[in-house]
Amino acid sequence: MNINKELLKKYNVPTPRYTSYPPANFFSDNFKPSEATDALIKSNEENTQNISFYLHIPFCSQLCHYCGCNTHITHNKSLISEYVETLKKEILLYKKILSPQRKISQIHWGGGTPDYLDIKQIQEIMSIFYENFNFIDDAEIAMECHPAHLTYDFMNELVNLQFNRLSIGIQDFDKDVLRNVNRVLPILPVEKMVAFLHENKIKVNLDFVYGLPGQTIERFSGTIKKAVSIAPDRLALFSYAHVPWVKPHQKILEKYHLPDAETKIHLFEKAFNILTENGYVSIGLDHFSKPDDELYIALQNKELSRNFQGYCTKKTTGQVYAVGVSGISQLDNAYLQNTKNLKTYSESIDKGVFPFEKVYFLNKNEKIVSYIITEIMSNRFISFKDVEQKFNVSYDEIKEITKIDYDLLTVFENEGLIKINKKEISVTYQGMFFLRNIANLFDPLRKQTEKQFSKSL
Ligand SMILES: C[S@@+](CC[C@H](N)C(=O)[O-])C[C@H]1O[C@@H](n2cnc3c(N)ncnc32)[C@H](O)[C@@H]1O
Ligand code: SF4
Repeated sequence: MNINKELLKKYNVPTPRYTSYPPANFFSDNFKPSEATDALIKSNEENTQNISFYLHIPFCSQLCHYCGCNTHITHNKSLISEYVETLKKEILLYKKILSPQRKISQIHWGGGTPDYLDIKQIQEIMSIFYENFNFIDDAEIAMECHPAHLTYDFMNELVNLQFNRLSIGIQDFDKDVLRNVNRVLPILPVEKMVAFLHENKIKVNLDFVYGLPGQTIERFSGTIKKAVSIAPDRLALFSYAHVPWVKPHQKILEKYHLPDAETKIHLFEKAFNILTENGYVSIGLDHFSKPDDELYIALQNKELSRNFQGYCTKKTTGQVYAVGVSGISQLDNAYLQNTKNLKTYSESIDKGVFPFEKVYFLNKNEKIVSYIITEIMSNRFISFKDVEQKFNVSYDEIKEITKIDYDLLTVFENEGLIKINKKEISVTYQGMFFLRNIANLFDPLRKQTEKQFSKSL
């Protein structure tokens, strides 16, 4: 597969990643606490489907210089234990709000580095869930892990706690690249780790980042070939987002020669080809799976969805309730983001108050745009007939709400990125590399915003 380089150059412009609509930098701190609590109560009354929980563990032992996540580098054990105690209280605050009829379908531990916690702390938190909530039969219990903390004993305990999916941050197998970005190396060989997890029925995702200093086509191809030989169930290929105005430590990497946009395209293209020639299929742009994976089956049935934690099936995901600093609850009607400050977080929870700091309440029109953008980003398809029925609006109203620019749409069609068939738009195979740009066509805020996003590649 060759990606059209001319179009890549043309569309490599700052564009939201659309993990939410509107994007998180539109969230505001101008709200009354009662409005946020009302949104929580409403989420429980209006949509009684499954519950997803997101747990944010911000701590890491060492800062990777490329990192764009919400992290707190510490070796202070008592700070971490206090945080775990607060987290447990926050989960119990949710118990008071959420109806016992609703079952947990998904728990996602993210970070930071959740496996930096002691296994006892993870056991205590999972006990709170198991003792206070009901679960669907095949709930997904997942954790993002740094391989530097994964020992056999630790993984064995995760098996006992019914974890069934681990995402392991590899980034690159090349030790020089990892050294350049100040990354701690794994303790066990990754192939042994994955074999152990597979023997214990835990599915494995491996994360890679391209665009890091020191990566060359040859070396990165070696990394991806090694990944294929390890045979993870899923694999993510993230484009390095260099945003030093948000994450000043990333400036450190500017002392190296960072791969330019053209090299990044070649790195991605080569990796894409290795993966697709070796039995992987693409989900969205940057995720890959085996063809029998539930995500790929959902994509074929137009049942794929997406939230801050990544791709998921519409069946598994529910409204997301986030616990921990910086976590974002993703409800049908609102986004509620917790404070990023550890002290403010624990003070608020100790008073029995949800620690929301920034929120966004979606009106009906924004929910329509959010739905359209999520469908494009996940299922590469949108039927305006479905939108008409789902939201009880006319096609003319949809056009007005999204402020679709028909001339631009025709340009994308002529470039072979989308196909338009009456009231349906589907993204072509080539168009898949431009998903963010295509989604942007339906974003009425696209012209209004001068806020900075990373480039779309
Ligand atoms: C929370 S981390 C995963 C767990 C653990 N902290 C680790 O590093 O292995 C989530 C993933 O985000 C990706 N990531 C972090 N910073 C990034 C950036 N600036 N650009 C693109 N991807 C990034 C990495 O692939 C990383 O594995
Ligand atoms: S990449 Fe992972 S381990 Fe490294 S600083 Fe970021 S969250 Fe922590």
